[in-house]
Amino acid sequence: MGRKQPGSERFESTYSALYHDRWTPLKEALLKPPCQTGYDNGLLKPYFLDEASLEPPRLLGAEPGMEVLDLCAAPGGKSLVLAKALAGKGNLLLNDMSADRVRRLRQVMKEHLPPDLLSTVSIIQGDGSRMGMKIRDRFDRILLDAPCSSERHVLNSPLHLDEWGPGRIKSLAIRQFALAVSALDMLKPGGIMVYSTCSIHPDENDGVIEKLLKRRAGMIELLENKSPPGEKTSCGSIILPDVSFSRGPIYMAILVKSTAIR
Ligand SMILES: C[S@@+](CC[C@H](N)C(=O)[O-])C[C@H]1O[C@@H](n2cnc3c(N)ncnc32)[C@H](O)[C@@H]1O
Repeated sequence: MGRKQPGSERFESTYSALYHDRWTPLKEALLKPPCQTGYDNGLLKPYFLDEASLEPPRLLGAEPGMEVLDLCAAPGGKSLVLAKALAGKGNLLLNDMSADRVRRLRQVMKEHLPPDLLSTVSIIQGDGSRMGMKIRDRFDRILLDAPCSSERHVLNSPLHLDEWGPGRIKSLAIRQFALAVSALDMLKPGGIMVYSTCSIHPDENDGVIEKLLKRRAGMIELLENKSPPGEKTSCGSIILPDVSFSRGPIYMAILVKSTAIR
C-alpha cells in the first residue's frame, strides 16, 4: 500500500496549481499576521479586525429603516458595521449556527454598541441554510459571510494543515451554496445580498455564485461594482494580502433579487 500524502503536500499542490508563480509570494503573505485595524466608528470601544473585512458590509449599502440579516454573523465584526449603517433605525437580525459563537456574538454587540444602535439588533441561533424554508421575501439586505476554507488559518496551524484534503473545499462549496439559496429566498424582490468568504479557492467564491446564477436563473442577477475593492474576478472581487499590505483574503460578490418573479 502506498504512503498517504500528507495534508501539507496536498495543500501545496492544490494552491500552486491554482496560483502558479503567484503562489510563493501569496503563501508568504498568508503566513504573516493579518493587518488588523481598530474599527471604532461610533462604537463604545474599538473592535479589532482585518481592515478588508469592512468591505463586504459596506458594499451591502444598508440604510436606516431597512430590514437587514447577517446570516453567519459570529463573532460579529461585520455586524458592527451593519448596526452603524442602520443608525438606530430599522432591524438587524444576527444569526449563527454555533451556540458558543452566538454567546461571543452577544457579548461583542453588548460591549461595542451604544444603546441606540443595540436597540435595532436581535440575535438568534440556527442553521442559516434552513431559514429560507420558513422566511420568504423579508429582508432588504442580507450579508452572507459564509464558513469557508480559511487558508490563512490552515497555513498557520500545523494540525489543520496536516488534516487538509481537497474534499474539504467540495463539502464547503455545497454548504455555501445551500446558505446562498436560503439567503436568496429570504431576500425581498429588489433586495441586495453580499456573499463573502475569506477563502482564496475559486470553487468557494465565483464557483458558488456561478452555480447560484445558473440554478436560480431569472431570480437573481449580479450587481456590477465599477470600482470594486481588490482584484476583479468573474463574479465579484478579491482582496489578496500579497498586494494589499497584508489585508485579506476577502472575496465578495453583490447580487440583486429580481423584482419580476412574483
Ligand atoms: C466566516 S465566519 C463569520 C464571521 C463573521 N461574519 C464576522 O464578521 O465576525 C462564518 C460563521 O458561519 C457560521 N456557520 C457555519 N455554518 C452555518 C450555518 N449553516 N448557518 C449559520 N451559520 C453558520 C460559523 O459558526 C461561523 O461563525
